[in-house]
Amino acid sequence: MKLTHLSAFPTATICLVLAASAQSRPFDSIRKAFEALSEQSPLGSSNLFDGIMSPPEDTVSTGVIISDVIGKTQSIGIFSGLTRDIGAVSDRLNDAHQNATVLAPDNSAMKNLDRKPWEDPKDYQTLGATAYEGGEGEDRANRNLRRFVESHIVPESPWEAGKKVNTLAGNEIWYETKGGKTKIQPQGVEVTSIADEVANGQVWILSGSLS
Ligand SMILES: *[C@@H]1O[C@H](CO)[C@@H](O)[C@H](O)[C@H]1NC(C)=O
Repeated sequence: MKLTHLSAFPTATICLVLAASAQSRPFDSIRKAFEALSEQSPLGSSNLFDGIMSPPEDTVSTGVIISDVIGKTQSIGIFSGLTRDIGAVSDRLNDAHQNATVLAPDNSAMKNLDRKPWEDPKDYQTLGATAYEGGEGEDRANRNLRRFVESHIVPESPWEAGKKVNTLAGNEIWYETKGGKTKIQPQGVEVTSIADEVANGQVWILSGSLS
């Protein structure tokens, strides 16, 4: 955009526009952000930090909650961005009285998904290539995206090995540790580390997605 265009708007108007766009996240902007992040080169500068695991902060007793910390781990930045974009999920992670175990696929898992997290092959079968266009299409995409994110959130913490639980999306999962590896079942997706342990739960990092 040319500066001459910008200067045509009074500063107050620009501030209002910026404030409005920061509050709501329409699907189109989520899609653009997701695609921009997914297309970053694996050698991009943001990945400089991927290998550095900040140790779980010693904050369990100080009232720090999942929503405070989930954005700080670079290696799960794509997934954590989605948790903040979906109101129902961010409200939950922001609630100090409801525990959760967040199973966050790492950035390479998010980049290697077979399809975008808001796409469902069934929608393309029944509705064709325009399944996610128009107002109804956006609603459909938003519902699918919410289901994707919710299928990675266990509504309890601590969560014991072997205990079958329904995720917020309603699918049943459990985990087991064998030969030093912890895997979410039935998908068999490995838990590579625990990023955070805070007052209302934990954030685990997965090497794949559960969808
Ligand atoms: C919630 O998590 C905290 C921190 O791990 C734990 O002390 C507490 O017992 C949990 N509450 C419930 C209801 O599971």
